[in-house]
Amino acid sequence: MPSYPTPILTTNRLTLRPLTLDDAADLFAVFSDPAVVRYWSAEPWTSVADAETTIGHALDCYRDQSEVRFGIELAETGVLIGTVGLHHVFPQNRRCEIGYALASQHWGKGYACEALGAALDYGFHELRLNRVEADIDPRNAASGAVLERMGFRKEGYMPERWFVHGEMADTINYGLLKSYWDARPSR
Ligand SMILES: CC(C)(COP(=O)(O)OP(=O)(O)OC[C@H]1O[C@@H](n2cnc3c(N)ncnc32)[C@H](O)[C@@H]1OP(=O)(O)O)[C@@H](O)C(=O)NCCC(=O)NCCS
Repeated sequence: MPSYPTPILTTNRLTLRPLTLDDAADLFAVFSDPAVVRYWSAEPWTSVADAETTIGHALDCYRDQSEVRFGIELAETGVLIGTVGLHHVFPQNRRCEIGYALASQHWGKGYACEALGAALDYGFHELRLNRVEADIDPRNAASGAVLERMGFRKEGYMPERWFVHGEMADTINYGLLKSYWDARPSR
């Protein structure tokens, strides 16, 4: 990734900014909710230490420019409501994966699309990525709707790829190319 500091991105209602250790309690509130990790191969967090470990990793990644996880803050109140991250970045191949989650009381208000729009613009135009990938549980309708709204296309299906809360779970592979992003209808 190019060597400049992780930026602050703004949208109509959101601020995407680097995480700090002061976010630990808010982040814990997001990821200790079983609804948020319903389709993840990880259990809900049980301690603020889980948040501190995740933030520590994010800080290391900001320093070595290896990946970026933005905190998503409501512009009006400054409350941290989730994260969106570009990870598994392969600079040589100009590709990465995207991951995102919001506190469940903020679902259904269009925040995910707003946050992903800013993160993808940053990825394609500042980090000069060519391709962003996502891998979701087929039962995660909200996540699929977000990706399709962003212009991701279904590229594959992998049965029983993850072990999710006691059962094997399938994956739908999605991909978004810079060419699709740049050609999307103006919103
Ligand atoms: C996935 C997630 C980020 C969506 O956030 P959100 O802010 O509610 O999404 P938005 O309000 O921007 O809605 C985006 C689209 O999803 C649709 N949607 C929202 N919830 C839905 C649901 N439960 N079922 C079907 N579609 C849904 C919306 O109608 C909208 O579609 P549209 O643009 O065609 O109208 C949120 O549900 C979440 O944090 N889930 C837990 C973490 C997770 O699963 N992350 C993704 C896996 S990596």
